[in-house]
Amino acid sequence: MTPHSQIIPVQAPNAEYSIYVGSGWLDVLPDLLAQRLLNGKVAFVTNSTLAPIYGDKLRQSVPGSVVISVPDGEQHKTLDTVRTLYDSFLAAGLDRKAIIIAFGGGVIGDMVGFAAATYLRGVAFIQIPTSLLSMVDASVGGKVGVDLPQGKNLIGAFKQPEMVIIDTDVLTTLPDTEWRCGIAEVVKAGLLRDTSLLDAKIYTRENAVEFISKAVKFKVDIVQEDPYENGVRAILNLGHTFGHAVEAVSQFQWRHGEAVALGLVAAARLSQVHGLCEPNLPYRVESLVKSLGLPTRYKGYASADIRAAMNTDKKRSAGRMRYILLRAPGDPVIVSDVPDAKVISVLDSLRE
Ligand SMILES: NC(=O)c1ccc[n+]([C@@H]2O[C@H](COP(=O)([O-])OP(=O)(O)OC[C@H]3O[C@@H](n4cnc5c(N)ncnc54)[C@H](O)[C@@H]3O)[C@@H](O)[C@H]2O)c1
Ligand SMILES: [Zn+2]
Repeated sequence: MTPHSQIIPVQAPNAEYSIYVGSGWLDVLPDLLAQRLLNGKVAFVTNSTLAPIYGDKLRQSVPGSVVISVPDGEQHKTLDTVRTLYDSFLAAGLDRKAIIIAFGGGVIGDMVGFAAATYLRGVAFIQIPTSLLSMVDASVGGKVGVDLPQGKNLIGAFKQPEMVIIDTDVLTTLPDTEWRCGIAEVVKAGLLRDTSLLDAKIYTRENAVEFISKAVKFKVDIVQEDPYENGVRAILNLGHTFGHAVEAVSQFQWRHGEAVALGLVAAARLSQVHGLCEPNLPYRVESLVKSLGLPTRYKGYASADIRAAMNTDKKRSAGRMRYILLRAPGDPVIVSDVPDAKVISVLDSLRE
């Protein structure tokens, strides 16, 4: 085990595995594979941004491995790209003992996981998330998939990995914008349960192992309670009903994490307007989000358009909008009796 590292056990349906969080895990990859008795051919799949930086290191870390690269970007998280992956897997001679390792952000994790779940009816899959968002969110929970022109993540599966390896060393090359987007999801975990994550001071790269481990443990707990998204997992949508709507009306000019940050502020305000929480909660959330360099206001869109975009979100139940709100930090509640007028007034209050 490397210094300052953490190993987080996960019990998934029909599978048990570990999430390794720490610095230096990439240097001991063959030892980790041996722990799971994995001895097939290894294929790393990464993207055109990461391959030039990490491709050689990956290839050298596992003798006989291949590195496959696909174009970078959400617009490539498609069945067309998956088809090119199948071709590459066949060309590399991958058989049913093969080990497919996703090395990248959530786009790579989701798409490569889907390819691994379906190639030869499923081969061993390992996640090495490299963006903060994929470390604390996308790589945890077993959901994999791709987008269709009609919508995001419409095709997918549950595929449990053999292990998830979070090597914080790769964060040194992560752009600051992507770093902040990941922090937004960690703050969400703080508001939902682990309130020690509501302190701006902890968010330094030196401290990454600690806060990433906490955020991962939080998501593991929720996913273990509700592996197939029938119940408590819904709380993970805190800030996302607003956030997805802002992403949509901005035609994805807003990054997901930035939209979620604004969504957290909106959820806190709505909680207060709906009489659920103390008046100072929205201020506390807003000043934290702001101090992390994340947006707390929007401009250029009408409140009514954002409200309308919320209707297409998946978070509706029996035709009514369902909101994840807060009674206090660490105490979420699912509410479906919020009048639209309150939602509009909150949206108005956040428009610049
Ligand atoms: N499966 C799930 O449960 C789940 C949960 C949340 C999000 N997601 C999915 O995750 C995706 C978003 O993930 P994301 O925010 O990681 O986006 P991303 O994968 O597009 O990565 C963001 C950018 O950062 C770059 N990057 C990543 N790591 C880097 C590093 N270490 N150094 C330099 N550059 C690096 C990527 O190449 C990319 O350009 C979406 O497709 C979303 O649907 C899935
Ligand atoms: Zn999110």
